[in-house]
Amino acid sequence: MRILVTGGAGFIGANFVQHVLATHAEDEVVTFDLLTYAGNLANLEPVMRNPRHRFVRADVADPTAVTAALVGVDAIVHMAAESHVDRSIADASDFLRTNVVGTQVVLDAARAAKVRRFLQVSTDEVYGSLGPTGAFTEESALRPSSPYAASKAAADLLVHAAHHTHGIDALISRCSNNYGPYQFPEKLIPLFVTNALADEPLPLYGDGCQVRDWIHVVDHCRALDVIVRRGRAGETYNVGGGNERRNVDVATLILETLGKPQTLLRHIEDRPGHDRRYAIDASKTARELGWAPQEPFAAGIAATIDWYRKNRAWWEAVKSGAYRDYYERMYGARLRAAGGEGRS
Ligand code: NAD
Ligand code: TYD
Repeated sequence: MRILVTGGAGFIGANFVQHVLATHAEDEVVTFDLLTYAGNLANLEPVMRNPRHRFVRADVADPTAVTAALVGVDAIVHMAAESHVDRSIADASDFLRTNVVGTQVVLDAARAAKVRRFLQVSTDEVYGSLGPTGAFTEESALRPSSPYAASKAAADLLVHAAHHTHGIDALISRCSNNYGPYQFPEKLIPLFVTNALADEPLPLYGDGCQVRDWIHVVDHCRALDVIVRRGRAGETYNVGGGNERRNVDVATLILETLGKPQTLLRHIEDRPGHDRRYAIDASKTARELGWAPQEPFAAGIAATIDWYRKNRAWWEAVKSGAYRDYYERMYGARLRAAGGEGRS
């Protein structure tokens, strides 16, 4: 089978491309990625010379480029997106273009090219925020809070409409917060690990008691692999780690693991509209597809911290240039107000 992975040079994409090539000796992968600030060919270094892998640099919102890349493709795993909530709060325009328009462009091109299957890689954030109990099921209402989550929910609805109206063989996965190697250090875990390694403050939003359900990226990749091969068309599949943690506890664990002082923790002004809690009920995916997460959080986070410790050149390169301006814009004033340094 030949799979086209949009956004394959990003965090989950690069892990997924490597996973498919390593576990399916007969498969070919086309990585289709614009290489925005979040895309990085260094993430694909282990497969760039693999004859079963091809890289195309192009935009999912460009119909000509998408159509050209689809020749001979059996399945699309669509994960190209603007993916960071804080950036969507600052400016939502790229989120609408890539996540919403881009998804419709890929759907239309897939239909014209008669691609056999389309998997939309979505997020639990489309369901909004939970109270202290309960978990999202595939039947939960869509109540996105951030512009990012709203753009993903819009894309999911376009996928549903393409299946319903045009009969496209499409399905949707919705996963909780991922962690692991190659994650851009704007997200909580790589930001905090790399800041701690550099003896910089860890900017914790609000009281730090928000809860996320963490899953190792390889467990997510295993889920995507079975969903794209064996999931039922028109269906949605939740994916989660069954592993809820408060942000403050994740931060404390990172500092402890690295032998850094807890005084690096800074409570800064909260993110506007901050979702309090996410939790996923992934029992449908387990029941229908026999999938379950395999990586315990304690082992997964230790290995991940170790990866960032050993791959300093990777994140130091990523954290230079435009990242410095981003960091100052996002954190400078809030960290200074909290009595910390704005540098990273
Ligand atoms: P990421 O930001 O690390 O990577 C996104 C990739 O998409 C980058 O390589 C970027 O260059 C590429 N891209 C962006 N705009 C593009 C465009 N217009 N055309 C082509 N490529 C473009 O994101 P990620 O964390 O790897 O997330 C991947 C997908 O998984 C996203 O769709 C996201 O919504 C979803 N998801 C992420 C998580 C998570 O915890 N990170 C959880 C659930 C779902
Ligand atoms: P993030 O990694 O941005 O993922 P999401 O918002 O999509 O869940 O954030 C995870 C949690 O960590 C979320 O509750 C916000 C919080 N957070 C901080 O406290 N400080 C930070 O600097 C960042 C980036 C996130």
